[in-house]
Amino acid sequence: MKIINKRHIVPNVYEFVVMAPDIARKALPGQFVIVIPDKYSERTPITIADWDADKGTVSIIFLEIGAATRRLAELREGDEIYSFTGPLGKAFEINAFGSVALVGGCYGIGGIFPAARALKEAGNKVVSYSEARSKFLLYWNKKLEEASDEVRYSTTDGSQGTKGHSYDRLVDDLASGERFDRIMAVGCTYMMYRVSQATKPFGIKTIVSMNPVMIDGTGMCGACRLLVGGVTKFACVDGPHFDGHEVDWDVVLTRRKAYLEEEIISKER
Ligand code: FES
Repeated sequence: MKIINKRHIVPNVYEFVVMAPDIARKALPGQFVIVIPDKYSERTPITIADWDADKGTVSIIFLEIGAATRRLAELREGDEIYSFTGPLGKAFEINAFGSVALVGGCYGIGGIFPAARALKEAGNKVVSYSEARSKFLLYWNKKLEEASDEVRYSTTDGSQGTKGHSYDRLVDDLASGERFDRIMAVGCTYMMYRVSQATKPFGIKTIVSMNPVMIDGTGMCGACRLLVGGVTKFACVDGPHFDGHEVDWDVVLTRRKAYLEEEIISKER
């Protein structure tokens, strides 16, 4: 699949628009692709951030964090990605819930965008929480504002919106009486864990978009397994969206670190 547009949107985060008509025709909010930058690279799951079925294009947003995503970030406009497979996984459940809060951080800001658009079209009030360490790390603000009824920004240094994390702001909003019928979070594991912890006392169903190590992405290898409600689930085919109050976060956070040393060696090589 050819990269027809590449943007380095904020430090370490890239947006690629890829010509992938078959995927663009079938993509639904919350699905992902598995990308192999070149024939020596790992398989990396990346959330589909946007698509245009008429133009046949798919947009992905990814964080350059390990060897494979570094190799992906080195590709240029016009280059072909060795393998770009999807759409994979189940879509977000889109219904008329009423009022929905979407929480996105890092690559997850792009990840919540299609959900915001679909939920708004379904008649929901959509409040998006977009977070980053600083103002210059926020992106797609206008796009997200157009797709949502309201966007609430949080930055760790306080340079835009409230100072702190989106989960703190969400708790403040809930504690002050605001009511959401559904909450969804996309971003780093720790952020989704904190969102789930924060919403549990309020008893609001909270869906998280899990991002464990994946290999085949089709339910065969077991690498992406999670414990959800005491039952083993495969993030690639049973998810990637699960009830955050049911996820065993100890298992998730331990498994995330399983290949840390190999990842560092691989990146150095
Ligand atoms: Fe292999 Fe999910 S990635 S079973």
